[in-house]
Amino acid sequence: MGRIDQETVQRILDAADIVDVVSDFVSLKRRGANYIGLCPFHNERTPSFSVSKSKGICKCFSCGKGGSAVNFIMQLEQMSYQEALRYLAKKYNIEIKERELTDKERETASEREALFAVNEFALLHFEHNLLETPEGVNIGLSYFRQRGLSDAMIKRFHLGYSLDKRDELLQEARRKGYRDENLLTTGLVGRTDKGEYYDRFRGRVIYPVFSISGKVVAFGGRVLRKDKPGGKYVNSPESVIYSKSHELYGLYQAKPAIVRKNKCIIVEGYMDVISMHQSGIENVVASSGTSLTEGQIRLLHRFTENVTVIYDSDAAGIKASLRGIDMLLAEGLNVKVLQLPDGDDPDSFAQTHSSSEVEEYLEKHEVDFVKFKMNILLDGVGDDPIKWSKVTSDIVRSIAVIPDDISRNAYIKECCYSLGVDEKVLLNEVNKSRMAIREQEFKRIQQEKTRAMNSGQQQPEQQPAEQPEQPSEAATEYVVSADIRKSTNRSAVLEPFEKQLLRYILKYGMVTICDRESEDGSEDPVSVMDFVEMELAADEIEFTTSAYKKILDMALSLRERYAEDLSAAGERAMEKRTDEWIRGEEAIRLEAITMDDIKLREKKLLEHCDQVYEDYLFDFSVNYVERRLSSSDDSEARDITAELVMEKHQLSKIHTKFAHVETELEQLTQLLPRSIFELKNAILLCDIDDVQEELKHEYSLQSPDKFRLKEIMERLGRMLQLRAEFAKRMGERVVTPGVKGVNRSRK
Ligand code: CTP
Ligand code: MN
Repeated sequence: MGRIDQETVQRILDAADIVDVVSDFVSLKRRGANYIGLCPFHNERTPSFSVSKSKGICKCFSCGKGGSAVNFIMQLEQMSYQEALRYLAKKYNIEIKERELTDKERETASEREALFAVNEFALLHFEHNLLETPEGVNIGLSYFRQRGLSDAMIKRFHLGYSLDKRDELLQEARRKGYRDENLLTTGLVGRTDKGEYYDRFRGRVIYPVFSISGKVVAFGGRVLRKDKPGGKYVNSPESVIYSKSHELYGLYQAKPAIVRKNKCIIVEGYMDVISMHQSGIENVVASSGTSLTEGQIRLLHRFTENVTVIYDSDAAGIKASLRGIDMLLAEGLNVKVLQLPDGDDPDSFAQTHSSSEVEEYLEKHEVDFVKFKMNILLDGVGDDPIKWSKVTSDIVRSIAVIPDDISRNAYIKECCYSLGVDEKVLLNEVNKSRMAIREQEFKRIQQEKTRAMNSGQQQPEQQPAEQPEQPSEAATEYVVSADIRKSTNRSAVLEPFEKQLLRYILKYGMVTICDRESEDGSEDPVSVMDFVEMELAADEIEFTTSAYKKILDMALSLRERYAEDLSAAGERAMEKRTDEWIRGEEAIRLEAITMDDIKLREKKLLEHCDQVYEDYLFDFSVNYVERRLSSSDDSEARDITAELVMEKHQLSKIHTKFAHVETELEQLTQLLPRSIFELKNAILLCDIDDVQEELKHEYSLQSPDKFRLKEIMERLGRMLQLRAEFAKRMGERVVTPGVKGVNRSRK
């Protein structure tokens, strides 16, 4: 694989719409100007994952993860920057012009990338076998046909066949340059005790397992003849790209339907999923034979809260899996179950009924899980008081794990009725059970803490060096604090001030903040960036936090291309304006009656179109810096940009037509100079500190140099005077609302 050239990278980044990208993994709901959903990076039941379309950034306010579209994909899919770009390119059908890899680059291509490449190769190879080799067609394809699968489903699920030869795949893979070690790790090839290699899936039909982003993470191979050795299914082993308990078979194909229907059906096997799809029910995934894991449930919860589990009809199986379903309840999902007619599994049922029959059956027969469980457990209990109390406590446990108060209480009511128990009694039991759960949880957390502390004492360097979150306004609420005086670490003192300034650059860098008279007497607009650059240069200030300095430089250099990009955006804005105009004109032609009416409406339309045009360009320029930097190829720049521009209070700010909220942008003419001033003040205080140290040192010498002492004292005197002036100016600062220089205020 080569590297992607810069121009293509830019095209990919421009095409990637954050809402669209995130939606492939998380079900989002609109909330004001943003979108929210359940965070895919940690386990949660109430959404704290926020996505800003205009900024092109997402962020979890609980765990802090997120960033640009590229960052999001990188984190979620554990991909490299290049892999993430490729993923997005594929999504948006952008052709990638490859640049040849250097040897070094080829070597460092991540192991994951190599494993995915091997699996991708095997996928194509298995498919080719199935459809284009005589053995594949006669044995594999005819098997699928005999099981009633259509060509469309065979293609959709990329089913395949592994030839019944010792090491056919191995040989072909070697010919194409794939390494033995990667074939072994992905489990496509096995090695005997004697060191002989063999194709693991030989003579089997193949069901590839895709991750939710559509990468092949594993294969399942099914035997065709009963007399063959080995189990009915052989599956890929776990590896860095495959964790069985975190994948659901069919999710990739089912995802759009799950979101559309806001519901997911869980079945057991590969064939169940595929046959259901074929019958038109596409929101189906399989747990692949094992009981559901927490990881799988969480994965699902990102797309929907409504789950139906389908059981084959045998009662033993049902009882065994009841516990697994309690986990679904605990995760806060609404769980229903469906029992198929005797002797049927989803595969056979879907194959023998029309799609409307299947739909209808689902609708009629799915029942609430708690009720279902109660019925099953109560069956055959009779009058036996011991059995009875066992059943009750089992049901109480199920209800107790439900996180939502309202549905929990509804269940309690429901069960009182069915069990004939007093509501208070049941409520009491449930609450006791909840207490017990909480206690357990508490103990577990305590234990973890203790363990972390113990291991931390042994290896203190492994303790996470997490900085306490710095409130963004900290820098502006400036006080001459003792901390600053005491601190000998200049960089640590200045960091919050630099951060605040950098944040303004990232958020508003290209916004015009004032005008400057040029030599020929005309007025030149000065952007936030220009302003900061001039101010810092005037006092020869450089950021001391190296990452901030780097990002500042990156931001400043964006100005080189800005004019060009702006004019391209201008064209797009014009197109939008024209579209609006055409649409509006049409409406007027259809609806307006009198000439006066037409004139009036055209005037309004014109205003509206101008507004559309202006808004587009305004958004473009305001978001320019953060959009570029939050998807730059420098990971530090990406992370810091995302962190600085997405703050909770920024997102929750309410803008309504009625109550105009002063935005930061509107106050920028005050905020920006103040922020610069505060940085300068902090630097001055550090300088004073240094000089005082110098003085102390000089005094401590055996024979202090008088001239030097005098020089230091004078320097210190000037600085202290400056400090006094600064302090006065700080005290005088008045914040008058309203805008002066800023381009345009938003109403
Ligand atoms: N399974 C497995 N290994 C086995 C048996 C089963 O991994 N030895 C998993 C597979 O994912 C399978 C699922 O459990 O799809 C359900 O098993 P089963 O009902 O036996 O298989 P079906 O998928 O129904 O396959 P078929 O209908 O082709 O027999
Ligand atoms: Mn089956």
